[in-house]
Amino acid sequence: MPETAIDLTKLMKEAVGRAAAARVQSNSIVGLGTGSTTAYALQFIGERLQNGELSNVVGIPTSFQAEVLARKYGIPLTTLDVVDRIDIAIDGADEVDPQKNLIKGGGAAHTREKIVDALADVFLVVVDSGKLVENLGSTFLLPVEVIPMALTPVMRALEKLGGQPELRMGVKKAGPVVTDQGNLVIDVKFDRIDNPAELEKTINNLPGVLENGLFVGVADVVLVGEVIDGKPSVREF
Ligand code: 5RP
Repeated sequence: MPETAIDLTKLMKEAVGRAAAARVQSNSIVGLGTGSTTAYALQFIGERLQNGELSNVVGIPTSFQAEVLARKYGIPLTTLDVVDRIDIAIDGADEVDPQKNLIKGGGAAHTREKIVDALADVFLVVVDSGKLVENLGSTFLLPVEVIPMALTPVMRALEKLGGQPELRMGVKKAGPVVTDQGNLVIDVKFDRIDNPAELEKTINNLPGVLENGLFVGVADVVLVGEVIDGKPSVREF
């Protein structure tokens, strides 16, 4: 991506992260998503806590990354063993279709993300406008978390379903990406995903699959960051 495009994407992510953080209320339990867009939301929630605008907020992290950022920005943490509900979850996505169905898992955190996001009263998705697609799977491969010993049979099964699977490899790390749960991630190219709800269930039914990155019917609100006339703005999708 050229440098100016990277700068514009950063502006969109920052704007949408700030808008999401503004929707968090005092006395609430917040699901803390993973990724570079959510990182801005965590930063601004932290700022609102530090300047006294917000109080009595606790977060449930969806990944090691979210946990580290929450500590950095001073957001107190809790776990699903302690709370019985989540008021709002804020999380990014890799693709969003017109029905607000998502592909997630660009950061290999989709298993914990789905647990937390699905439990929230309001699941608020934060994306830049480049994430909006007509059909899921058109720009991003579908991530599937798999238990290591089941890697080969699951790859074969994904091929039988019409996909082209590849094991996700690490960057600045030799060998495959290992998830926060100690598993592997297969990224699958599908020519078309016509029925995301059915595909989500079919893949999760393969023995050895922990979770896939299709989030169907889970998102409540999608905030989209855009740049119009060089200025960042946010709209509700
Ligand atoms: C991590 C995710 C992220 O939310 C998704 O990849 C979006 O990331 P970013 O905001 O960095 O574009 O699903 O597993």
